[in-house]
Amino acid sequence: MSPPKTAGTRNKADIVAVIGASGTGKSSYIKGELLKKFPRLLVWSPLEETDDYAGFSSGVVVRGKISELVAQVQTGTKAIVYVPTGDAAAVKLQFDRFCRIAWEMEPATKLLVEELSGVTMPSWSPPAWRKLSTAGRHRGLTIIGVAQRPANIDKDFMGNCTEVRCYRVNYDNDAKVMADVLRLQTAYAPGATGKTVAKKGMDQLRELPNFHFFHKNPDLSVRRGINKSL
Ligand SMILES: Nc1ncnc2c1ncn2[C@@H]1O[C@H](COP(=O)(O)OP(=O)(O)O)[C@@H](O)[C@H]1O
Ligand SMILES: [Mg+2]
Repeated sequence: MSPPKTAGTRNKADIVAVIGASGTGKSSYIKGELLKKFPRLLVWSPLEETDDYAGFSSGVVVRGKISELVAQVQTGTKAIVYVPTGDAAAVKLQFDRFCRIAWEMEPATKLLVEELSGVTMPSWSPPAWRKLSTAGRHRGLTIIGVAQRPANIDKDFMGNCTEVRCYRVNYDNDAKVMADVLRLQTAYAPGATGKTVAKKGMDQLRELPNFHFFHKNPDLSVRRGINKSL
């Protein structure tokens, strides 16, 4: 008899950061590629009105009620989209509870957290989120964290990611963080006058057109690409 497989080896579990300014193509990538298949899905969706993860996944929306979230998890609802409600303090509390519940989900669950900058800070994040982003993949969970302003989110998260997808960012401090994460080298290309122009990593990130990205692979190599057409 073969030994029972652990959750960590049975599933291809990853932690993926998806970074970029509003409208650069993050959610389209998530829907089109990362969530093509999901045995079970749990989404933190502050911008559900426009993102419509429930429509995309044929999921059930839970608005601001942790008890209802627990009930949906227990009934085995395949896709659950949680929309936080209330002021900043209420949202913070809901995120902590949301992360604890996510930790208990069965292996192979995909967990998506949109707008991470609303619930973590560079030097602080809820302990339950930290636990997810340090040990979640060993439990077989796939975790996708999304942010428009990477300089504002918890620093450890990016360090724990197996993959990082970065679209254009619109501020120097965000570009600096991401150029470092991606270890982008200065690029040399002919300028308008034909003379070679050097472009620093952070400027390459500031100038990406919509839907263009740099992607750090699990083997740490970085590729440049464009979103698949919708
Ligand atoms: N490859 C693409 N070509 C054309 N339009 C796209 C493409 N990818 C996304 N879009 C559109 O651009 C808008 C913003 O994309 P979205 O993925 O929601 O961005 P973000 O999540 O970064 O704010 C959406 O209306 C989407 O349908
Ligand atoms: Mg989006």
